[in-house]
Amino acid sequence: MLHPVILSGGSGTRLWPLSRQNQPKQFLALVGDHSLYQETVLRASRLPDAQAPVTVCADEHRFMVGEQLQGIGVPSGGILLEPLARSTAPAIALAALHVLAKDADATMLVMPADHLIDDADAFGAAVEAAAALAREGWLVTFGITPDYPETGYGYILRGAALGEAGYRVARFVEKPDLATAERYLAEGGYAWNSGMFLFRAQAYLDELGRHAPAILGAARAAYAAAEADLDFTRIGREAFAASPSDSIDYAVMEKTDRAAVVPVSCGWSDIGSWSSLWSVAERDDGGNRYEGDVIAVDTRDSLVRASERRMIATIGVEDLVIVDTADATLVARKDRVQDVKAVVDRLKAAG
Ligand code: GDD
Ligand code: MG
Repeated sequence: MLHPVILSGGSGTRLWPLSRQNQPKQFLALVGDHSLYQETVLRASRLPDAQAPVTVCADEHRFMVGEQLQGIGVPSGGILLEPLARSTAPAIALAALHVLAKDADATMLVMPADHLIDDADAFGAAVEAAAALAREGWLVTFGITPDYPETGYGYILRGAALGEAGYRVARFVEKPDLATAERYLAEGGYAWNSGMFLFRAQAYLDELGRHAPAILGAARAAYAAAEADLDFTRIGREAFAASPSDSIDYAVMEKTDRAAVVPVSCGWSDIGSWSSLWSVAERDDGGNRYEGDVIAVDTRDSLVRASERRMIATIGVEDLVIVDTADATLVARKDRVQDVKAVVDRLKAAG
């Protein structure tokens, strides 16, 4: 059976000042009425044969997750609470152990909580193709056609065909530097890793044990020490703290020879920064996205988001991001918004 697993542990620092430690981006309604997390749960629950989704998140976000699930009326397949963040390889291991406890032949579809997908049918077809490969033991990734040399993504080189819809992964490179990413685009044959994965839970644990046994050992001990608390499963702190912190991409996907890729064209976007939000949002003829009380004169290609407490007026500007909140305002050039992270780092350093 197919068990969706939603990874919701990130903090989304590049969407500061809207995204905060206690209110990270996946829980915000950035586009539309539902939060990115709710959109992800709904997308998962509409897949044929999907079981109730499992969420893996930080302990401090448990009530937000519980409320947001209730808000859309989707039953939960479990909410696993991490006492501290150890990145995605151990988080996915916890979910694998959780679904195997109910279903010895469980297949899992791992979905980040902060992505958008426009074309649900194309996505559903890709999931079906991936599930067929997963049954043969493959760890399946979903490949997106790259359109610029993004350095924040993983790159997948397509190998030999596996049936009609998939390929072996000839090479998986997580977050290459710019020169390498440019070369991959020029050479062709590479796809972006979408960050979603589909595999048999046991196949993931086997590959994790092969390439990162310390993570598997810590995840097993931490899951064994877990305690039930209302709808939540509290993962054992001491055992989980002993896990190395590493992502599935580095710990498993770069190393395994069981990786496959299913190319998909489903209007996928990773809402990682203000510029990516601008690019997926509906915009007016001047290329602007306004939210809240905004008066703009001769303004182009900008994202302006007013808070409830005051209006924003702009005159004669272009390519800006302006985001106001109750206690902080961001003004940035749109091509520099990746550096919002530097602001957050300074804030953290200042305590
Ligand atoms: N539960 C949990 N615990 N979730 C986590 C943790 C953790 O410690 N760390 C990250 N996550 C969640 C994030 O909230 C996000 O939904 C997902 O796991 C992926 O983590 P990111 O930190 O956003 O990864 P990334 O964007 O740098 O890279 C991944 O996604 C790219 C596509 O968006 C990789 O898979 C890349 O290869 C891929 O291209
Ligand atoms: Mg991401």
